[in-house]
Amino acid sequence: MLQSYSQISGWGKYVPEKRLTNFDLEKMVDTSHEWIVQRTGIEERRVAAKGETGGDMALAASRQALETAGLKPTDLDLIIVATSTPDYFVPALSSTLQAALGATCPAFTVMTGCTGFVYGLVTGHQFIATGAFKRILVVGVELITPFLDWEDRNTCVLFGDGAGAVVLTPSPGPRGVLAFDLGSNGELGHNLILEGGGGANPMSHQMIDNGQHYLKMNGREVFKFATRILPQSTQAVLNNAGMGLDDIDLIIPHQANARIIDLAVRYLKIDPKKVFVNVNKYGNTSAASIPIALVEAIEQGRVKPDDKIALVSFGAGLTWASAVVQWGVAVPPSNGRVAAETVPVEVVAAS
Ligand code: UT7
Repeated sequence: MLQSYSQISGWGKYVPEKRLTNFDLEKMVDTSHEWIVQRTGIEERRVAAKGETGGDMALAASRQALETAGLKPTDLDLIIVATSTPDYFVPALSSTLQAALGATCPAFTVMTGCTGFVYGLVTGHQFIATGAFKRILVVGVELITPFLDWEDRNTCVLFGDGAGAVVLTPSPGPRGVLAFDLGSNGELGHNLILEGGGGANPMSHQMIDNGQHYLKMNGREVFKFATRILPQSTQAVLNNAGMGLDDIDLIIPHQANARIIDLAVRYLKIDPKKVFVNVNKYGNTSAASIPIALVEAIEQGRVKPDDKIALVSFGAGLTWASAVVQWGVAVPPSNGRVAAETVPVEVVAAS
């Protein structure tokens, strides 16, 4: 039984300093700036510095989120980390983050690819709704560039590193996650896979010689899935919330490809001004994409108290995860701190 609503009362993001532009990629693989922009909308992505870990990025985003929420790490009741590119298989990134923060609470990791943050947010909400916990940190982080084959133009142009985090706390009124739609179709999992290094295909010279330590993607199949599931899950989550598209103030889709977003916008007949897009600057940061976009939307003044925001994601698994979130807290002026470097973009035309 629902005991409490949850609200997002803290937020933060971190992206590495190093920008890798399409022009840089032209020197590495057989591609062009024009192709990448036309087919994906991506202009550049961030790449972690040598020695910079996912844990470092998660820590930076989490500290910001705690600061915005006015909480100390020891106030936290739970940490949920979403990542598919952990620093170690064991221990989980959630535990290394807990130690780095100096938090003393339980921590666990969800690994559902690009949908991980929304899965984590919905899970965190359950603990608050039941009254079990009061202060939960949810982080989406990916250090994905070490898992890319920099000779494979089908994948290396698409992804980037980064982290985003939110703090969930109880709210007296209807706030936070009002409804969700979660799903998985594991039969399609082979279309986006990192085959080697796990129990099914343990680390070996041969595995590495075969390039199975790199992420592989059947782009066309994932594209087909994404263009179907993005509108479908948007409609499902709105139905679950008892809302229509007109009730939604902002849609933050998973930032994988501007063409995928554009097709969904056209299919659902959404006003493009209601759709947040920053894939041009970061590429696909997988589980970090939605929290990074949310934080940038806040920084650009696009989120106000009582706004209803739809977060819609799809990714490896293949999975999907969407949530309608009602915004609760006012955004302090200091949160416009990086507004100058963020530029909203038009959704590119589908070809
Ligand atoms: O987070 C979830 C995971 N990922 C996604 O959501 C990605 C989903 N898929 C996609 O976004 C698109 O399928 C891609 C961007 C990966 C590819 O775009 P596309 O329009 O579906 O291209 P395509 O796979 O149909 O390939 C068209 C051509 C091919 O050449 P041929 O066979 O027609 O001669 C590719 O080899 O484009 C070629 N190509 C490239 N050319 C220049 C593929 N990658 C590149 C590249 N630069 N980087």
